[in-house]
Amino acid sequence: MLKLTDDEKRMLQGEDGFVPQICMQYLVEVCEVAGAEKLIDLDGTGDFHTPMTSMSPFYAFPIEELKKIVDAGAHFKIPTFANKSPFYMLPPVQGWEKCNVCASGNKNCQHNDPEFHKEAMCEEWIELYRRMGMMTTHSCANYMTSTYLPTMGQHCSWNESSAVPYCNANLGARTNIDGSFATCFLGKAAYYDMHITENRYATVLVKTERTIKTDIEWDVFGFAVGEDVGVHVPVLTGTGKPTTTQIMKLNSAMNTGGAVRMYHIPGSTPEAPTLEFALNGKKPKRVTMIGEAELKRAYETLNYHTSDEVDLVYLGCPHLTIVDLMLIARKLEGKKCKIPLWIMTAPWLYDVAKNIGYLKIYEDAGAHLMTGTCPAAMGAVPAGVRNLAVDSAKQSYYITGRYPDDDNRLQVCYGSQDDCVDAALTGRWHGEWR
Ligand code: F3S
Repeated sequence: MLKLTDDEKRMLQGEDGFVPQICMQYLVEVCEVAGAEKLIDLDGTGDFHTPMTSMSPFYAFPIEELKKIVDAGAHFKIPTFANKSPFYMLPPVQGWEKCNVCASGNKNCQHNDPEFHKEAMCEEWIELYRRMGMMTTHSCANYMTSTYLPTMGQHCSWNESSAVPYCNANLGARTNIDGSFATCFLGKAAYYDMHITENRYATVLVKTERTIKTDIEWDVFGFAVGEDVGVHVPVLTGTGKPTTTQIMKLNSAMNTGGAVRMYHIPGSTPEAPTLEFALNGKKPKRVTMIGEAELKRAYETLNYHTSDEVDLVYLGCPHLTIVDLMLIARKLEGKKCKIPLWIMTAPWLYDVAKNIGYLKIYEDAGAHLMTGTCPAAMGAVPAGVRNLAVDSAKQSYYITGRYPDDDNRLQVCYGSQDDCVDAALTGRWHGEWR
């Protein structure tokens, strides 16, 4: 039975105005669906997909209502960041001029058309959100580029599936996948699942046969773990300790193969000083092995191609860190790409990459730096692209899902960053599971 405070009841009755009322109605419904007994006051950070005022069309409201509250001085209650570029058409924030893509669903719109880009960026909405305090970071990896992160135990409301395990498992802060205008504006979220300590302990013990070392191994391993554990919290043993890039890959892949919002690696993640601690002193409900056979099967699932001739290479899912931008620059310096190579990062890193000189190296090599989106999010690749090379389980999974018709299905070569750069330089796929 949901219990609301007097303030929350007042908002629900509309005494604080239309927008707080509709936000509260939405949160009450989330509580009812999730079985939450109360709302929790958030003390961490939030992010949501702009320009949506709600995750549900039933609780959306028009821009005129937003203008009214902004003119009256309304702000987000918690530090709020923008997930990817505006959901309307998810355009690249920078680099759109050379992005020869037809926006999904509308063959007349091109992402490289200035008029279309202006419309797709939803500037009017974004400006209002800025006035409310939103940091318009427009990235799925805000946690890697923003200068403000929640701390251990803080309650947050994040929206990006690849980022949510970072909040829970790597920072020890607490969030469900529920970032929305309502949660960030009111600073409240339904109190269930990852907000509650008991739900954060591991119930599935995952073992491996090989130490997980390389970036591609962590990505494949994450996808296989996700497929195996589904919604349950795993504790990963025998893996080795991931680097920052590997954590990003693991997180995005686990929340693609399954719905892993939280996991533990004893001695590495903050809520798992030991295996016993991760399991809360209990026996696991299940023990599973992600061995050689499971890894190979996951790798093969993520590869869907009948030809080794590649048309486009995409790197940057999740959006790349400055270290990966450096590594790619090092691999491209003094070379020429045979086919288009898209390199995607967060908007806040574009100028950094430019100032350090990576942008020039990419351009000299014929590669293209963009920010804020990705092919899977845009739901489109340039006309004529039939075979895309990627180094991300999440990108492979979602981009092929965008082409469900088997006759026209986009083919994907999935492998390491090295395999992808090699494909960009040679036009052919030489990757294999090693
Ligand atoms: Fe980001 Fe797109 Fe991957 S938005 S996590 S790059 S699917």
